[in-house]
Amino acid sequence: MKRERLDKVLANMGKGTRKEVKQLIKQRLVTVDGKLATDPGMHVIPEQQVIEIDGKPLLFKRWIYVMLNKPDGVISATEDSFHETVVDLLPEEWAHKVHPVGRLDIDTEGLLLLTNDGQLSHSLLSPKKKVDKEYYARIDGRVTEEHVAAFSQGVTLDDEYVTLPAKLEILESGDTSEIHVTIMEGKFHQVKRMFAAFGLRVMYLKRLRMGSLLLDDSLELGDYRELTEEELLALRNGSDAPDA
Ligand code: URA
Repeated sequence: MKRERLDKVLANMGKGTRKEVKQLIKQRLVTVDGKLATDPGMHVIPEQQVIEIDGKPLLFKRWIYVMLNKPDGVISATEDSFHETVVDLLPEEWAHKVHPVGRLDIDTEGLLLLTNDGQLSHSLLSPKKKVDKEYYARIDGRVTEEHVAAFSQGVTLDDEYVTLPAKLEILESGDTSEIHVTIMEGKFHQVKRMFAAFGLRVMYLKRLRMGSLLLDDSLELGDYRELTEEELLALRNGSDAPDA
């Protein structure tokens, strides 16, 4: 377990800026294992030691895993000069720490995982791992069994890249069609470009699943919740645990 500066631990837990938490220490409000902390640079092991501010113990959590039901109009990034970002939807204490695991287009809705666990994130995004992503889409046009067969072979995109085989399921076929599609990569605008290869336009796209992680359908657009232990364990299956 990592030893870290006390002021850094407090700041990372959203107790203020480094300067502000130093003030708390100066005001003799912070104790570590019951003893007054006077040095902001003292090293602590936050998982093992009891840190209190004004008599209230802090609950230390190193790893954050949040599922967001991303709404339309929000960018999958941590910063953007023009648009609201997905981290702007989260509480302050998480917003500065987490990053989105992969990207959804600005107009795509649905499941987005945000975490500060770079190892898990890397593993879920690694092309080698072929983590599947399932989407629901409404398509402007008729989707047929021929498309299903073509998707299962891999689709040649506008830049000549041939996708890995994808599973296409037709829910409704008509002037407008409804489908589920599962892909194993995350190329730029991939689902939209796969349909565009057949002259079809995606009118609405929503991610339902990433690997074992299903979008919680009780989450309204813009809402989020932490992953459960079971969800996290299932996601980690096949990836190394972080060095907690
Ligand atoms: N494919 C797309 O075209 N857009 C997304 O946001 C995700 C997958």
